[in-house]
Amino acid sequence: MNEFLIGKDVKLILGDSLNILPNFSSNSINCIITSPPYWGLRDYEVENQIGLECSISDYYKNLINVFSELHRILKDDGTLWLNIGDGYTSGNRKYRAKDKKNVARSISFRPDNPEGLKNKDLLGIPWHFAFILQELGWYLRCDIIWHKPNAMPESVKDRPYRNHEYLFLFSKSKKYFFQDSGLKTDGTERKLRSVWTINQTKFNGEHYATFPVELINPCILSTTKEHNTVLDPFCGTSSVGLSCLNNNRKFIGIDINRKYIEISSERLTNQFLQLNHKSY
Ligand SMILES: C[S@@+](CC[C@H](N)C(=O)[O-])C[C@H]1O[C@@H](n2cnc3c(N)ncnc32)[C@H](O)[C@@H]1O
Repeated sequence: MNEFLIGKDVKLILGDSLNILPNFSSNSINCIITSPPYWGLRDYEVENQIGLECSISDYYKNLINVFSELHRILKDDGTLWLNIGDGYTSGNRKYRAKDKKNVARSISFRPDNPEGLKNKDLLGIPWHFAFILQELGWYLRCDIIWHKPNAMPESVKDRPYRNHEYLFLFSKSKKYFFQDSGLKTDGTERKLRSVWTINQTKFNGEHYATFPVELINPCILSTTKEHNTVLDPFCGTSSVGLSCLNNNRKFIGIDINRKYIEISSERLTNQFLQLNHKSY
């Protein structure tokens, strides 16, 4: 049994998104919010996980297969919010040094430099993949800078340390559902801007790349209505699900790692009970 229901509006599915998404009906999902595994950064210790491909083109190929399915199952007026991490070439080192604060980072190999890149080059994955999605037919509507004031300084001496990530907004069609979220993302303005200052969450249980719920709320409120369905095909600890529960949206989360589905289930069940308790 690989499906877990929490209430009637939350479903968690344990498995490989590449195998599960083909079972979804076309035009059935209002919004997708997701952060795929980064390339060559973390070992989630499960077979068929994305992110440990030996070449960057195999990584893109796996993601293209997932995002083609996502395009099919998204409604015509639906949107996709994509957060995808960057990295540097390995300098042809074959291992990543252990990070005591983040054990999932210690992967046993580091892939070769992608063709055309030199040692120390930034990979540029977020924009590269955004252009690939554009070519596949997605409309690239906005690049949002997620500014993380509490990002840990990197131990580098010859460049600024990076304290931002990208969040891209894509749509399936030229016209799509969008409304002012009414949330402040930069501390001053009411209307949604493209730089969002939000502290990063350190980790949740044993997961090390948890979305802060504050990053998800503006996405949910601006591109979905109450009772709409939101999907995260790489849900990890289900911060997207938490925001859905709080905002009365339906949620479907998929993850290949049983440990994360268990953390998600506990997190969402607690929130579900708390919300329902409040309403009596
Ligand atoms: C960057 S994390 C997502 C974190 C999530 N946004 C959160 O808030 O916790 C990527 C997730 O993708 C999962 N994953 C890797 N390969 C997968 C696959 N083929 N199908 C489904 N999930 C996969 C990993 O287990 C990991 O939890």
